[in-house]
Amino acid sequence: MPTVYVSRRIPDEGLKLLEARGHHVVVSPHDRVLTKEELVAAIREHRPEALLCQLTDRVDGDVLDAGKPNLRIVANYAVGMDNVNLVAAKARGIVVTNTPGVLTDAVAEHTVALMFALARRIPEADRYAKSGRYQGWDPFLFLGMELKGKTLGIIGLGRIGFGVAERCVKGMGMRVRYSDPKTNPDFERELGGQFRSLDDLLRESDVVSIHVPLLPSTRHLINADRLGRMKPTALLVNTSRGPIVDEAALLDALESKKIAGAALDVFECEPSIVCRPDDHLRLKALPNVILTPHIASATHEARQAMSRLAAENILAVLDGREPPNIVR
Ligand code: DGY
Repeated sequence: MPTVYVSRRIPDEGLKLLEARGHHVVVSPHDRVLTKEELVAAIREHRPEALLCQLTDRVDGDVLDAGKPNLRIVANYAVGMDNVNLVAAKARGIVVTNTPGVLTDAVAEHTVALMFALARRIPEADRYAKSGRYQGWDPFLFLGMELKGKTLGIIGLGRIGFGVAERCVKGMGMRVRYSDPKTNPDFERELGGQFRSLDDLLRESDVVSIHVPLLPSTRHLINADRLGRMKPTALLVNTSRGPIVDEAALLDALESKKIAGAALDVFECEPSIVCRPDDHLRLKALPNVILTPHIASATHEARQAMSRLAAENILAVLDGREPPNIVR
């Protein structure tokens, strides 16, 4: 009976599927991120054929070597793959899979929620109302920006970027520009999207939303120079990966009002919210920054579907079939 080692408790649909197919599922007893030593030790102890891991697990050559000779698949419980060393996995003949598609709606909805929250200053207004300071209607109280008719810049037109653009164009009447390694004629036809270089997109957009994977080429894609190209009224939303934005440069840009606001679901030095401890105070002093703790895909629906998809990938590999979501 093949063993599947699950590095942290996850919604159970996929695990039930694996058990129903006769697999021995071992879930880490610690409901937290394992240290690398703990992960290696657990793999050595259980000798799994499959590792179902989290985006918080760093799966490198040592972890993969601990799985020798049994380990056949690493199924990442995430769409992002920057935590798995794909080259090392390939060199060892281990298949790597992710969970695309099933979290698109959850992440797109969260991204749009952040845009509204920023544009209409909802967290600020909530804090104000709860603090007892409200004295009655005021023509100037918490004026924000209407999204209708504004220009959305999508950086990275994959499934999630497309989903965000679709909601913003069809639901909110925004215009959309996109930057991506390739043009997408369907997107242009269906949603009126216009392709732009990254610098032109930043110059034209009222709201910029980031949807690229973290790769060496996208680390600090949004740096001081690029932030300087944005409109002083523009809002930046990042629900992809933290290191794509140079956060020290972002703090400077917000403090010096080079841009009007930012909403971040991911952080450069995760799990820390800031890379330098002093920056916490700087962040707290900025009312135009909204933070959520990497929860863009955190819906019951998406997290169960991710569990199912990770299990389907594992079942395929252990049955000797090509998994639906192989990452090359
Ligand atoms: C992913 O799947 O990469 C997301 O960041 C999870 O929330």
